[in-house]
Amino acid sequence: MFTGELGRSVFGATVFTFVFALGVPWIGSTIFYILGLNYGCCTSTIAFFATCFLALLIFAVFPRGRLNPKDKAVLITGCDSGFGPLLAKQLHALGMHVFAGCLLKDKGGEGAKHLMKIQSSRFHVLQLDVTNDSEIKMAVQYIGMHIPPNQDGLWGIVNNAGASAFGEIEWSSIDLYKKVAEVNLWGVIRCTQACLPLIRRAKGRVVNMASGFGRMIAGSRSVYGITKWAVEGFSDCLRYEMRRWGVKVSIIEPGNYIAGTSIFTEDGVKKLGDSMWEKMPDNVKEDYGKKLFDLRVAEMQTYCSKGMDDLRPVLNAYEDALLSRIPLIRYQPMEAYWTIRSFVFTHFPSFI
Ligand SMILES: *[C@@H]1O[C@H](CO)[C@@H](O)[C@H](O)[C@H]1NC(C)=O
Repeated sequence: MFTGELGRSVFGATVFTFVFALGVPWIGSTIFYILGLNYGCCTSTIAFFATCFLALLIFAVFPRGRLNPKDKAVLITGCDSGFGPLLAKQLHALGMHVFAGCLLKDKGGEGAKHLMKIQSSRFHVLQLDVTNDSEIKMAVQYIGMHIPPNQDGLWGIVNNAGASAFGEIEWSSIDLYKKVAEVNLWGVIRCTQACLPLIRRAKGRVVNMASGFGRMIAGSRSVYGITKWAVEGFSDCLRYEMRRWGVKVSIIEPGNYIAGTSIFTEDGVKKLGDSMWEKMPDNVKEDYGKKLFDLRVAEMQTYCSKGMDDLRPVLNAYEDALLSRIPLIRYQPMEAYWTIRSFVFTHFPSFI
């Protein structure tokens, strides 16, 4: 199931492990030797940790058994574009009962229209703006009434809906921060809370979309990044609390899939850039200068066509989190470089 990017990640990690298992012990034991200490124990300690690390990576791609998908009900948010509609179709094809939440169903959005052509008693397209409490309430009521009679509750929610933004901290208005958090963070919390009574009954799953930027960050990405860091914390807390109910919580941390989704378009970047420049205080404009600003916007625009356009690693991670007997806590469908970088960022001393 995990070929391509993840396969390459395992390869990268193996190389990394060998460097660890051979190079670092050699340096370590030389230092220990010079200091007149017992150098044998340095080697075995490092080899032990390197082996554990490799075992963890192998566990991620090792078959862990699968549950029967038939008639299990799942709600997916953000089914207008990107991962959402593809996941909805993929899970429906497995025999699952799918509720696809679309922001623009009532406004005649293309994505919703396309999904509504699927004629199946197991496929429902719902109007769902994750920032709107009354729409969430209506959606959950509808789901409660349409769960197949042979099921105990809602098997899963996939909090997939997301918004993005870019721009340095001094360029970003508080309104922009709030707007993105309204979807990426409060939206996730609202939908999760609303669905949990049904999910606890099924001893089901919560799957939250975070990001590679959920555990590391880059310049110009604070507006987006902080919401994803928060989703990580929220999901970890939820996992502790749900253990007693038998509900499992997974986090997806994709790398750059901008090219394959429409979270950013060149047009969208330009619009956001224009409005950001307009709202920026004059002294900030002067200090940074239009040239640097335009350069950032142009960089972001080229970024739109970069990254992976094959969305399958993310879709497969979603599917595994919902249907594996032993779902992983974190899935990292990203390029090997980012997997290693995120490992280093999370586990190594900060100065590295
Ligand atoms: C929330 O959803 C309801 C029902 O679709 C709608 O009438 C209302 O205008 C929405 N509120 C906002 C703030 O969009």
